[in-house]
Amino acid sequence: MSQDKPQQGRRIAVLTSGGDAAGMNMAIRSVTRSAIDHGWEVYGVQEGYAGLIAPREQGKIRRLRARDVGGILDTGGTMLGSARCPEFADPEVRRRGVANLESMGIDALVVIGGNGSQTGAHVLHEDGVEVVGVASTIDNDLLGSDITLGADTACNVALDAVDKLRVTATSHRRASIVEVMGRDCGYIGLTVGLACGAEAIALPEVDMSPEEVATRIEDAYRRGKKHAVVVVAEGATHGGAALERILIDEYGERIGFELRATILGHVQRGGAPTVFDRLLGARFGAHAIDCLARGETGVLVGLRGRAVQTTPLSEIIGKIKPLDMSLVELARVLAR
Ligand code: F6P
Repeated sequence: MSQDKPQQGRRIAVLTSGGDAAGMNMAIRSVTRSAIDHGWEVYGVQEGYAGLIAPREQGKIRRLRARDVGGILDTGGTMLGSARCPEFADPEVRRRGVANLESMGIDALVVIGGNGSQTGAHVLHEDGVEVVGVASTIDNDLLGSDITLGADTACNVALDAVDKLRVTATSHRRASIVEVMGRDCGYIGLTVGLACGAEAIALPEVDMSPEEVATRIEDAYRRGKKHAVVVVAEGATHGGAALERILIDEYGERIGFELRATILGHVQRGGAPTVFDRLLGARFGAHAIDCLARGETGVLVGLRGRAVQTTPLSEIIGKIKPLDMSLVELARVLAR
């Protein structure tokens, strides 16, 4: 956007895309009310890019006023709805979205989402739309933000579940194998595994054989422990098979503890946002509007250290943020 564009009465849109994440609602609220504070009109796009490209008569793009985003800051999910929209990679399909925005006089878009969503934001920006991304995914796999909106809540939900599983595992002297989400990134697995003192943490980024995990479980049994916890990131598969399945099928009868597996799944996406995610959503949303106001577009809003900063989308798309390997080592040292 050029700096000399009239700001008063400007129209912008906001959407949430990909897997929902707690704190998205706070970000929508912050985008909406910060923009209104600038004297702009705000439009909410329902169901992510799918809503953006839908025929206009379906009414997926609707005006958001300050009160429309009231009463949502304590709820997970997204009031706008979300979707995965692989067809958005097709330039012809994207053109429909751009045409929808133009026909409504909307000249900029805030995209709240993770890796796939920010790839969509990047190509849309290359198509000429003024776009600002907000880093939001439970996976915390996006470069450009030390932590993404929703990751803290997902980790807390998963940790709460593991703490409960440890209670029953202790009563029955069992090993509880818990699969957490994260796609190809082990952030949730590592964070939860370290926080719960897991005997073993299986991550996509770390080569650990089922044999080694089984040995750690058996060692815990021999040391007299009443329970063992193994946290498995969903991306830590072996030959395409889930690690918990291999452990139960191949080692279940001979490592002391009886084994039980739990896949936490989408429960991790449904928590009420933590105070951390609420503040992050508020700060990210307001920063996205500041970016649009000063004409800084094609960027991702994220947290670096304690500061909210931007990174060009071109530098972050298609990449996965590396794990802090010192924490992997720390978890190994502390599990005794
Ligand atoms: O990206 C968030 C995430 O929850 C991943 O951890 C998981 O692999 C994926 O989304 C699940 O996708 P869906 O909700 O489409 O099944």
